Amino acid sequence: MDSERRNERLSAKDDDDFRSLQQKYLMQCWAAQRHYDPVAVEKADGCWIYTTDGRKIFDLRSAHECINLGFRHPKILQAMRDQMERVVYVTDDFATRPTALLARTLAEITPGDPNKRVWFGQSGAGAVEAAIKGARFYKYHQMIKKGPENLSPDMQYPYPYKIISRYRSWHGSTAGAASVSGDPRRWFIEPLTIPGVKHAPDAYCYRCPFDKTYPGCDIDCVEYIDKMIELEGGSNKVAAVIIEPIVGSNGIIPPPGEYYPRLREICDKWDVVLIADETMTGLGRTGEMFAIEHYDIVPDIIVMGKALGVYCPLSATVFSSRIAGVFDDNVFGHGQSFSGHALGCAAALAGINVLNEEKILDRVREMGQYLGDRLKTLEQKHRSVGEVRGIGLFWTLELVRNRETKEPFRKQTDKYARNVLTEIAEYLLREKNIYIPADKFGIWIVPPLIVKKQEIDFIVDSIDEALKIADDEATE
Ligand SMILES: Cc1ncc(COP(=O)(O)O)c(C=O)c1O
Repeated sequence: MDSERRNERLSAKDDDDFRSLQQKYLMQCWAAQRHYDPVAVEKADGCWIYTTDGRKIFDLRSAHECINLGFRHPKILQAMRDQMERVVYVTDDFATRPTALLARTLAEITPGDPNKRVWFGQSGAGAVEAAIKGARFYKYHQMIKKGPENLSPDMQYPYPYKIISRYRSWHGSTAGAASVSGDPRRWFIEPLTIPGVKHAPDAYCYRCPFDKTYPGCDIDCVEYIDKMIELEGGSNKVAAVIIEPIVGSNGIIPPPGEYYPRLREICDKWDVVLIADETMTGLGRTGEMFAIEHYDIVPDIIVMGKALGVYCPLSATVFSSRIAGVFDDNVFGHGQSFSGHALGCAAALAGINVLNEEKILDRVREMGQYLGDRLKTLEQKHRSVGEVRGIGLFWTLELVRNRETKEPFRKQTDKYARNVLTEIAEYLLREKNIYIPADKFGIWIVPPLIVKKQEIDFIVDSIDEALKIADDEATE
């Protein structure tokens, strides 16, 4: 196509009709394309998206939980502008201030000894892949160090490779990350999953996999992992356990307080690496910088993404010194072209400064308490509300057809089927200008961390009205 024609095609008319262009040419994630119907956006600010046809929509999912600090935080935009004037990206054969400072900051603010190493990627999935490789290589190296005469006779595969995950988990859509996920989205890569993934039952007290009630249940769900590791070959076969400290897209599930200290003990007993995937929970979402801090334990590898880069695609895999040490003289066999992107790192550093300067974590705790208290009143009022769960600004209302039997509106395996939850999401968008995810187990309340009290009132009042749709379908 000659340049004149190309310029014609990029004309103002196309600009006006970009919605149709996107509808026609973009491949929407996790969707059949025929009914793709994007809303044209003029701008976004704070917690709100402004559309070209004059609507103002509250983003109750914080743009896939990425935009925690609102859409146009002036300090972060300024830090990005300043960085763009210097250097946007150079390879890691060169050092840049933001990349170096962010690596040090993450080493310091994550739990445990700050003597760590950080790998930067662009997606949560990429960072999970790095964690899996790091854990497996660490275990491989331990085997090498032991010497062949000390290897167990059942060491057929050359190194411990198994990864234990939980059914209610999502770690990303690339092959390794999807394989270690329990979420049905994993099915899209089957049968080409990576070898050795075993799924454990969840720490999900509302629907206890062992039909027990907490407290007084001996936390069988974590003891089960101990048994699993043993039966999967123990230290000779199992490399890592990967967890979302507070499960995100599979139902916002904070486990009981004793769960992670016990899991840490189990991993130590078997010398298995503990990976905490904080892609959704990291950087303040739950009222601590990292959700695992609520449980006061130190994982061996911490993964983060989403909100880390604030407005840039940036993720990080933080390796404790024990794991990182094996790469002092061995190749870290993972990489991505834009790793350590200076602009992304500058945005992330500015974001962490904002979290500190504006005391965002205090705000999350205060607003989270208010939001949680208000949501709990809906439990009494609506027969379709099975349980209100959450912490910080990370909440769900799990909706059920019947409170007694806990029959769900949507089974975990029916991820793409239309149901009452879809109708509630559509109602909230159409009637109340609130955008919430539609495909969850219930209503998901995950606002930007800068949400104001009156915005919380508006959200809860709107959900209160929308729940009539579910109540009509529920039985006493
Ligand atoms: C806990 C967790 N880990 C990993 C990912 C994957 O992140 P990304 O979509 O950036 O690859 C997600 C995405 O939702 C997530 O919630």
